[in-house]
Amino acid sequence: KNTRIKLNDGLTMPVVALGVWQSHEGTKNAVLTALKNGYRHIDTAAVYHNEKAVGEAIKESGIPRNEIFVTTKLWNDDVRSGNTREALKKSLENLGLDYVDLYLIHWPAEGYVEAYLEMEKLQKEGLTRSIGVSNFRKSHLQNLLSKVHIVPSINQIETNPQMVDEETIQYCKENKIGVEAWSPLGSGACLNNPKIQEIANKYQKSSAQIILRWLLQKGIVILPKSVHENRIKENIDLFNFVLENEDVELINQLNQHKRTGPDPDNFDF
Ligand code: A2P
Repeated sequence: KNTRIKLNDGLTMPVVALGVWQSHEGTKNAVLTALKNGYRHIDTAAVYHNEKAVGEAIKESGIPRNEIFVTTKLWNDDVRSGNTREALKKSLENLGLDYVDLYLIHWPAEGYVEAYLEMEKLQKEGLTRSIGVSNFRKSHLQNLLSKVHIVPSINQIETNPQMVDEETIQYCKENKIGVEAWSPLGSGACLNNPKIQEIANKYQKSSAQIILRWLLQKGIVILPKSVHENRIKENIDLFNFVLENEDVELINQLNQHKRTGPDPDNFDF
């Protein structure tokens, strides 16, 4: 079971995706395992250097292409050098696909407006069905929206119990930009939180399931990464329980605006 949300361009996407950042040699097997267990949404990026493995797994799964939602991302070097079109073509070649479902600007690197304007053309040409951004804060989105024609369908940002950028999420909501959470488990760091563990005991679920369910109830798409079958299964087994409001609120209170990853306002790669 994997419900879907509707994007501002009319496309729908499954709310649970498999993340493959740092899945390394485990990528192909993780994607095959996920697809076997009901996942229909895979999130990769050119810079993860595993698009080939993702593509092989999709092909080997035997699942029709149009039943799987595939996202990849434009790397910063290609944003800065105006290499958007070539970069997407290279990603498609690596994936062995003739379109992706969603193409994202990976970080707000200098030149992102020009890159996005090119992506608008690539969408019209059918090389990607939807276009969006990643690691954009409210200020980046305001600048982008003032200069482009198509509102991004998605902003993919670090979101987990200790890192919620409410201002950016609110701005996305107001502008019908869907929010996706990368590192939904805080790269594992939130799993040992005693409050989360207490709630997990109450519902007889794992800490990971509590955190992922909390994000879904906030209307956020999740991209948990795992290369282990038991965890891959657990991370999509989220549709047979509902967190009470008081527990959602308890988790909301854990926010420390503490990133595990880079700061979108100050990154040097
Ligand atoms: P592994 O791939 O070895 O299973 P995030 O998505 O927040 O970046 O977190 C990913 C990290 O959390 C990875 O180290 C992953 O390890 C681990 N992880 C993923 N799912 C679970 C789970 N259900 N329980 C415990 N750890 C998990």
